[in-house]
Amino acid sequence: MMATIRPREDSDIPTCLRILDAVYKSTGYPVGGVNNSVSFFTKNETAWVAEVNGMVVGHISLTKASSENVAVALWKQRYPEDIDIAVLGRLFVHPESRRGGVASRLIETVIEESRRTGQRLLLFALVKDQDAIRLYRRMGWNHFGSTIFRWGNNNEMAAECFANPVFL
Ligand SMILES: CC(C)(COP(=O)(O)OP(=O)(O)OC[C@H]1O[C@@H](n2cnc3c(N)ncnc32)[C@H](O)[C@@H]1OP(=O)(O)O)[C@@H](O)C(=O)NCCC(=O)NCCS
Repeated sequence: MMATIRPREDSDIPTCLRILDAVYKSTGYPVGGVNNSVSFFTKNETAWVAEVNGMVVGHISLTKASSENVAVALWKQRYPEDIDIAVLGRLFVHPESRRGGVASRLIETVIEESRRTGQRLLLFALVKDQDAIRLYRRMGWNHFGSTIFRWGNNNEMAAECFANPVFL
């Protein structure tokens, strides 16, 4: 399955919302649910989609670091002088298009962009998302700590934090 990666356009968002619905039903991602998922595709991010046979099947984003992100918060506790950080997020692939390298290509695109801009690249994954955690480990990301992600009304789950090894 050869995926083409290209920048996301506003016209892709309805398709991304449909894919996210299917991802939530099959995988429970994102844990906050999809009732308010338009806000999932915020404007202050750089985002890409993956196409297979001309159809969008996956999505990823790169955002500027915010301390609200649990991986960024943990990293800054350890390296407060490190300020130029970007965050990989919003990664999902349609359940019928998985295990063909689509996410790997999306992740490589984000790594390439952060390398180009010279930003350190971090992410976190909830422990329930073991497919993602296995993939990050296999691609050589460094696990730098465990933390707790909180959402909604007193929900929480353990999360694993990773840094891309390019600048380590
Ligand atoms: C995690 C997720 C994005 C992975 O997407 P994907 O497109 O299936 O990922 P890839 O195909 O690149 O890699 C998945 C596996 O397929 C394998 N694979 C990749 N190309 C392959 C091919 N051509 N043939 C056989 N296997 C292949 C990879 O080696 C990897 O194996 P692993 O599970 O042992 O690590 C997807 O499962 C998903 O959307 N999950 C729900 C949302 C989520 O968890 N997002 C991340 C939150 S942090």
